[in-house]
Amino acid sequence: MMKTFCLTLLWAVVGFPTNSFAVDFVKDVAPILQKYCVSCHAEDDAQGGLAMDTHAGLMSGGESGLALTSGVASSSRMFLMASGKLEPVMPPDDMEGPSDDELVILADWIEEGAEGPDGEMPIRRELKTPKVPTAGDVALPVTAIARSDDGTWQATAKFGAITLNNLVSGESLEVTNKLGKV
Ligand code: HEC
Repeated sequence: MMKTFCLTLLWAVVGFPTNSFAVDFVKDVAPILQKYCVSCHAEDDAQGGLAMDTHAGLMSGGESGLALTSGVASSSRMFLMASGKLEPVMPPDDMEGPSDDELVILADWIEEGAEGPDGEMPIRRELKTPKVPTAGDVALPVTAIARSDDGTWQATAKFGAITLNNLVSGESLEVTNKLGKV
């Protein structure tokens, strides 16, 4: 309580404390949002209509309008709620919220113009895998092999199909189920 009061006083007197570095949305801001906010404010489940898993979502605001005023942290609702100065306090229900240092980062970012990343949005975590074309036909993996007691027949199972090989005559027989596309 005392701490909040002192901080408020400090801000009232000297304005928001600032970092000496330029705040980077991707590096500095997104991890804070990810940690404390995105669990309830994502595009597929946006409490209060506010999604914070993309810069664009955050900038377009929620059910009550804009969530932040770029350039002015003290009139940005998302900042005021996150710092306990505006109801409902975010995150709600006494959940752990951003630390004082993290609040300074958020404030600085807003003060510096709330710039987003160039190009693609980084918060959404997608595993990017390169598309590697397969060379020729793909062989399905063998999932089981069994042999008859006398060693004559061998059964090889793959998805949806079993191949019977006669190891003596070289004869081969394929059994597929209805799902099998071999
Ligand atoms: C446990 C879920 C939860 C978390 C975590 C959470 N919020 Fe919220 N938030 C809500 C709910 C629910 C509402 C709607 C409250 C209402 O309308 O009374 C809301 C509403 C808001 C709104 C108002 C949106 C509008 O336009 O009405 C803002 C701004 C906001 N939250 C910011 C944040 C920030 C910033 C964080 C992270 C520091 C955060 N929230 C974390 C649940 C959460």
